[in-house]
Amino acid sequence: MDFFELILNRESVKSYDPHRPVESDKIQKILKAGHLAPSAANRQPWRFYLVSTPEYLDKVRDCYHKSWFKKAPHLLLVTGKKDLAWTRSSDGFNSLEMDIAIAMDHMILQAESLGVSTCWIVAFDTEKLHQLGIVEEGEVVYAITPLGYPEKDFKKHGNKVRKSFNEVVKFL
Ligand SMILES: Cc1cc2nc3c(=O)[nH]c(=O)nc-3n(C[C@H](O)[C@H](O)[C@H](O)COP(=O)(O)O)c2cc1C
Repeated sequence: MDFFELILNRESVKSYDPHRPVESDKIQKILKAGHLAPSAANRQPWRFYLVSTPEYLDKVRDCYHKSWFKKAPHLLLVTGKKDLAWTRSSDGFNSLEMDIAIAMDHMILQAESLGVSTCWIVAFDTEKLHQLGIVEEGEVVYAITPLGYPEKDFKKHGNKVRKSFNEVVKFL
């Protein structure tokens, strides 16, 4: 698929078939896309946790209240540590959240290109999640996405709700 078509077609999917896991070669490619993402000073301050076992799925599912989230066969957690990321000496700006967003976007677009659905999630219960004992001290979960295929009756809405192009783009 053409890259622009891919971007146009991607939607946040809120429907997952719990009985249809993603093929391991596709999972591998999605994770590789994150692994290859660029980061400030190439620090790669992230970790990617692919949760697919019933034991861990149960735990992570409890950290976000939506029923569709609880049906996904895989949950991908993207974490980072501030002290691993690059900091600008002039003003203390730390690139961690920017780096994480790039890795996440790489994986989401790679998934889309393989026909695997995703939904970027940040409204999870951080306290609950950090108490699960999955991540290390100082490591923060920045984003989660389900990975999976939609349920049978699911249809994309095909409607990109965005501000007008001219409101956000300025040609000077
Ligand atoms: C940083 C970020 C955080 C998001 N967090 C959530 C979330 O917690 N729950 C949710 O249902 N959707 C979440 N979304 C999905 C957005 O609501 C969605 O991307 C936006 O409405 C545009 O729709 P689209 O992804 O279908 O184009 C998030 C998206 C982004 C980029």
